[in-house]
Amino acid sequence: MIAHLGTKPFMTNIPHDSASKHVSGESVYIDDMLVNEQLLHGHILYSPHAHARIKSIDTSAAKKLPGVYAVLTAKDIPGHNQMGPVIHDEPCLAEKEVLCVGHAIVLIAAENEELARAAARLVVIEYDLLEPVLDIRTAIEKGTLLAPPRAMQRGDADAALATSPHTIKGELETGAQEHWYLETQSCLAVPGEGREMNIYSSTQHPSETQAIVAEVLGIPKNEVVVEIRRMGGAFGGKETQANHTAAWTALLANATGRPVRIRLFRDDDQKITGKRHRYLIKYEAGFDASGKIVALKFEQNADAGCATDLSMAILERAMLHADNSYFIPNMQVIGKAYRTNLPSNTAFRGFGGPQGMAGMETVIDRIARFLKIDAALVRKVNFYGIDKDNITHYGQEVELNRLHVLYDQLSASSEYSKRRTEVNAFNAKNEFYKKGLAFTPVKFGISFTTTFLNQAGALVNIYKDGTILVNHGGTEMGQGLNTKIAQIAAAELGVSLDRIKVNATNTSKVPNTSATAASAGTDLNGMAVKNAIDKLRERIVKLMCDEFSKIDPDFPSREIDIVIENDIITDLSFPDRNMHFAEAMLLANLKQVSLSATGFYATPNIGWDKQKGWGKPFNYYSFGMAVSEVLVDTLTGYVKNLRTDILHDVGDSINVGIDIGQVEGGFIQGLGWCTTEEIKWDAKGNLLNHSPDTYKIPSVQDIPEDFRVQLLQNAPNPNAIRKSKAVAEPPLMLAFSSWLAIKDAISAVGNHEYEPHFSLPATNEVILLSIEDIRKKQNKS
Ligand code: MTE
Ligand code: MOS
Repeated sequence: MIAHLGTKPFMTNIPHDSASKHVSGESVYIDDMLVNEQLLHGHILYSPHAHARIKSIDTSAAKKLPGVYAVLTAKDIPGHNQMGPVIHDEPCLAEKEVLCVGHAIVLIAAENEELARAAARLVVIEYDLLEPVLDIRTAIEKGTLLAPPRAMQRGDADAALATSPHTIKGELETGAQEHWYLETQSCLAVPGEGREMNIYSSTQHPSETQAIVAEVLGIPKNEVVVEIRRMGGAFGGKETQANHTAAWTALLANATGRPVRIRLFRDDDQKITGKRHRYLIKYEAGFDASGKIVALKFEQNADAGCATDLSMAILERAMLHADNSYFIPNMQVIGKAYRTNLPSNTAFRGFGGPQGMAGMETVIDRIARFLKIDAALVRKVNFYGIDKDNITHYGQEVELNRLHVLYDQLSASSEYSKRRTEVNAFNAKNEFYKKGLAFTPVKFGISFTTTFLNQAGALVNIYKDGTILVNHGGTEMGQGLNTKIAQIAAAELGVSLDRIKVNATNTSKVPNTSATAASAGTDLNGMAVKNAIDKLRERIVKLMCDEFSKIDPDFPSREIDIVIENDIITDLSFPDRNMHFAEAMLLANLKQVSLSATGFYATPNIGWDKQKGWGKPFNYYSFGMAVSEVLVDTLTGYVKNLRTDILHDVGDSINVGIDIGQVEGGFIQGLGWCTTEEIKWDAKGNLLNHSPDTYKIPSVQDIPEDFRVQLLQNAPNPNAIRKSKAVAEPPLMLAFSSWLAIKDAISAVGNHEYEPHFSLPATNEVILLSIEDIRKKQNKS
């Protein structure tokens, strides 16, 4: 018997499965879930000090307030007072010492929010204030290393620097970034019978949320079920830190025996959760007259905040992306993460990649300005080669290199050279308005760099009416994972999309999963679902072989070719012998054939030595390029994004609309990090901009006036499901094109004769100071 897959073209223009529910308001988030009148409101009392010893906590008055059902401190935790995801260095509630403003100390459950807040005001905590470390330079000075430094190298950077025709050296500071998911951290905990705890958590990582809840409650994992239908955005901010809210909610539900919900107030969410890591990057580069880099040294210093969280993995990815798209024969990257007294910094789209690549792009831009050649040309001479110069500084070969085809196509479609001339002409004519242009590439490695995490599971159920319920370990956060999974399931089974429903993610359906992160959601879970469907299809085909054979009693062993296509199962030799999929499923039930199967997938052929910093950490690379043009008002620092052209490689797109949406959204989110999103803390470690009126994420005004996003055509990826590629994170780093276009415009103020001071984000203030500096230098000479 031979099973054929349907030949119908794969439909790639399916709307996001939540799209209509989102616009009609029907999507159910944690805060919308209906619970009975027993529901209590959970509240967190946190430290107002960045660093202090706790002398005493008095909760007696709060406990007496009518309508208050629980007031918990560290002493009331029945299990282990820990919520560190990788390293257990993060107490769930502070006991003796607080390490940042926002460090949770007391949990309160009350009938409503007003009562919970009133109770919080009655708690008396006495502190002994300690000196906080609030920035990376102080941390370096005090030596607050979080873990031993890491290193990656190839060749001899020092020796090559010593003999380089030209060298440059400098520092780059990159800023923090607030995730600003629309739905703040939320959890609903509903106690069951005995020790059971049901958790509805807005989490990217349900299995880890389950583990942490079990740990703080002191119960085994099989008593805890975590479910998530969808998140209202996550962007890495719910990869580990959703666990915190879940642990706090579970403790309160456990203590009261009633359902408890916590939905963090926006300002509290911004104050107490971690951000993108700030980096201080030191570099030294050696290059020749064509701009070809021969030697490069980076020292990356990360502000980890007060605990480890994912800082070491993020640092590793920053180091692995210090090359961006360029072959550098002699390269050394040193990475260090430091503790500071700020909320522990965490995953954020790109996961260190953006910081690592910002360092590299700064080096390229400075080389171009030093040699007075167009930075796009310096990039081109340094790109990884196709057949040679194609091994990274950590030993992985850059296979299926799309850099050259992207460069050629985007140069042409964006009319880069012509516009360079036009920008120069504009700048020659205008004194106060200056234009800038930049062309930047992205190469991003796809896989968790902790190799064992590259695994996924699925459970596919077919019901007697021929409808299908797909469970997988990934989580939906707006990126369209569930839509893509439904498309994959329908195509692999040969049935119509409307037969498929993707279930809410649930740890009792698919256990021991990895976070939905590292852009690998579809790659991993799509393959696991395919694996489950392969098993089911084999059973269905066998059943139908038996069924169709019965028609020819004389030839019971006839070889039968069967196709499942458009919901019809057909015997290819006798096309009039066919059965509707739904009818066949009823038959399967009568014939005692199991219609439920699990699937599993682990990415093959990857692995590397973290200690040596050498090997093949990634399954493949994603590539993209962007050209951006900006207009800068040199008197106010105001920036207008005039035009951005993007060409991005997603392999064979599974869903064109979703992929373009991810590219556009990623770019704009990167634009925020690179330009407007400046986070400020005061001298005592208080976050100063903790609401949208002072923290400026991009708005419609910031979207390039002319925004042209294209997906690279005819570039199938042999290494992932249906020849697709991950899309999620890489486009964020295309925003360097706008960032460096701003630098280009600033540089035009001094007729490109002085190197502008620059940092990230390039806020209006940074732009004005940089322009002022150039004008001073002009006046001197
Ligand atoms: N897109 C939306 N709309 N909302 C999100 O929270 N998170 C991003 C990206 N795109 C995010 C998003 C991040 S950080 C990652 S790692 C991926 O989606 C995760 O999903 P995927 O692996 O299924 O692409
Ligand atoms: Mo994304 S930062 O890997 O959750």
